[in-house]
Amino acid sequence: MFSLDYTPIFHQLHSTKIIPVLTISSPSDAVPLAATLAEQGLNAVEITFRTEAAAKAISEIAYSLPQVTLCAGTVLTPEQAELAVRSGAQAVISPGINPETIDWCLSNHVPIIPGCATPSEVEFCMRRGLSLVKLFPAAVLGGTALLNALKGPYPSMKFMPTGGIRPENAAEYLQLSNVWCCGGTWIAPQSLLNDGNFGAIGSLAAEAFAIAHP
Ligand code: 3PG
Repeated sequence: MFSLDYTPIFHQLHSTKIIPVLTISSPSDAVPLAATLAEQGLNAVEITFRTEAAAKAISEIAYSLPQVTLCAGTVLTPEQAELAVRSGAQAVISPGINPETIDWCLSNHVPIIPGCATPSEVEFCMRRGLSLVKLFPAAVLGGTALLNALKGPYPSMKFMPTGGIRPENAAEYLQLSNVWCCGGTWIAPQSLLNDGNFGAIGSLAAEAFAIAHP
């Protein structure tokens, strides 16, 4: 189920390597923001369901920028997963394990990247046939030391660490063989978005791209 080899969206996440995690309050920001990131080579984004605008933001990007890989993040329920997919999301990401959401995605052939914080949760996902999970909140949980420790018992599992990834430590995460890609909010901070400062966001995106593709 959603093998890493045969799920195109997972390939796109792997080649983008650093995935901006975006919380968009105003749908009109969605396309200029995603376009700014894509111009700098960050062609995959995670739009969080932390605002009312999330679904609209996803649909605007899906319509205007079909080349951008679109994940819905902070998806907590099957209803949100369905809304995300109807809006144009190509994959669903959750901060934790929600069996109902995972099962809805699997039944509907929607790629799902659930958040894990423990070995038991990794095993739960393995039993559902998943081979890519989020590690959240990565830095608090132990960061690269935890990822190295997970390699022993789960050699085939790949992780998308998110939470505490910054320009200073992103390369250290990305060089681990079990890290598929990283996610982070630092590329599009709320303050810059509120100010409409897409120039500064573009600079942060360029910096992230250079870290991901040295
Ligand atoms: C997430 O939703 O994945 C996290 O909030 C991202 O954490 P960060 O703000 O430390 O990047």
